[in-house]
Amino acid sequence: MYQVYPRSFADGTGDGVGDLPGLRAHLEHLSWLGVDAVWLSPIYPSPMADFGYDVADYCAVDPLFGTLADLDAVVADAHHLGIRVLLDWVPNHTSDAHPWFQASRSSRDDPKRDWYIWRDPAPDGGPPNNWMRAWGGTPAWTFDEASGQWYLHLFLPEQPDLNWANPEVEVAMHATLRFWLDRGVDGFRIDVVHALGKDPALPDTPADLSPIPHATLNDDPRTHPILRRLRTLLDGYDGDRVMVGEVFLLDTARVATYYGDGDELHLAFNFPPLFAPFTATSWRKQLARVEREVAPVGWPTWVLSNHDVVRHRTRYGGDEARARAAAVLLLTLRGTPFLYAGEELGLAQAEIPPERVVDPGGRDGCRAPIPWDGTPEHGWSTTDPWLPWPPEAERRNVANQREDPASVMHLYRRLLAARRSSPALQDGTMELIDGVPEDVIAWRRRSPGDERIVAVNFGPETVAVDAPLGGVVEVASDGAGEGRLFTGTLGPSSAVLLRPAVTTSPASPGSASLAL
Ligand code: GLC
Repeated sequence: MYQVYPRSFADGTGDGVGDLPGLRAHLEHLSWLGVDAVWLSPIYPSPMADFGYDVADYCAVDPLFGTLADLDAVVADAHHLGIRVLLDWVPNHTSDAHPWFQASRSSRDDPKRDWYIWRDPAPDGGPPNNWMRAWGGTPAWTFDEASGQWYLHLFLPEQPDLNWANPEVEVAMHATLRFWLDRGVDGFRIDVVHALGKDPALPDTPADLSPIPHATLNDDPRTHPILRRLRTLLDGYDGDRVMVGEVFLLDTARVATYYGDGDELHLAFNFPPLFAPFTATSWRKQLARVEREVAPVGWPTWVLSNHDVVRHRTRYGGDEARARAAAVLLLTLRGTPFLYAGEELGLAQAEIPPERVVDPGGRDGCRAPIPWDGTPEHGWSTTDPWLPWPPEAERRNVANQREDPASVMHLYRRLLAARRSSPALQDGTMELIDGVPEDVIAWRRRSPGDERIVAVNFGPETVAVDAPLGGVVEVASDGAGEGRLFTGTLGPSSAVLLRPAVTTSPASPGSASLAL
């Protein structure tokens, strides 16, 4: 799956902000790359306090991005290319400009009052509990003078939390999903899904826990029945409709509970590997945890970058070789990989001068516009779009890399093609191979009649990787030796995908046997 951050992907209307016509014009890139599905960060009408994660209408498109007809056209064209489309559904909170919240705040007696989480002041007049909102270092509560109560917002004050304990909220939110499913959308990425269920007592965060509310307290059991009902809703539709949840809990075992008994999320983001350093020791632990904690209950997911974190090329020290090795890792593990637009160019985090900062969460640097070509406008309508360009845009852009078979972009394409043609890589088993150097992780993927081996050298030295790592190099992170027998040597920060060598036995001409 490939994440598009619509503001930053491609500008089709000439205002320096990406939009749906821009995306539509560049679907061909996704098809060329070989992805199966695209997930769009929110495209709904929004005051953009959190760049669309503050939704004012769940069943429409913000004019900044285009029209409903533009979205329909994106879905139709994507389907024509064999690409599924997922939207981002933001159920934990709305915008404070949403008519539901406007009604809710209008008076204590409004029928929608209880659609949000309102509480009386604490005895000292302050916020009802000690929860802090994301980013600001300030309370997760805002006082409403007119009605004399506080409302809860785990994020910005402009993002009031919905009250999922109220059945009317659930009915209304289900209707928003049906609206898009009826239009042929293939599924949803569900924003901060672990925070939906809340203990109505809203207890203080214990002193020994991090005060970030959405990362700690809000793993409440009340979320699970909500997810089961969402699953039933999706299962009522034809085709493969999918939901992937942003379970922002930095504990893989807890993330795994969001698959339920196969009756909750289809896929859950597991962020601990994203925050792990790029070393063999730390990745061995991550792989073991996913194998132990997720694999028995659900299909794993893998992600290294998204619109909320520093791009992994930069996190891993900036070296392109390491970003290439990471691509081999990401695209050959057992599970569904998520790419974030621009990582296929090997983009690093953009430098944002203080006067250009726009995001209240400090995330602008990973949201820089995608450079499509080497002109001063990089395929946009202006040399100066809503955020500054990423580093090296004059040469690190889609057009240049498409012409260069040695580029990172071609590496991603070869890896995706290898995945597509190998049942073992798609859904085969995965087992680690022992006896490799300390800085290396090697594993075997296997399904009936198909087999692949992957080896990643996380370290700074060239290493010799002996048998049983034989086979033909199908993809190498540096492109070296592809199509030839593996030499057994891995350079610093490099990785290979090996397929069985087909040997023709002289004794029985014409018969082929697989040898690894
Ligand atoms: C999720 C989104 C993030 C957003 C937040 C509030 O973490 O990924 O971008 O700011 O939720 O909706």
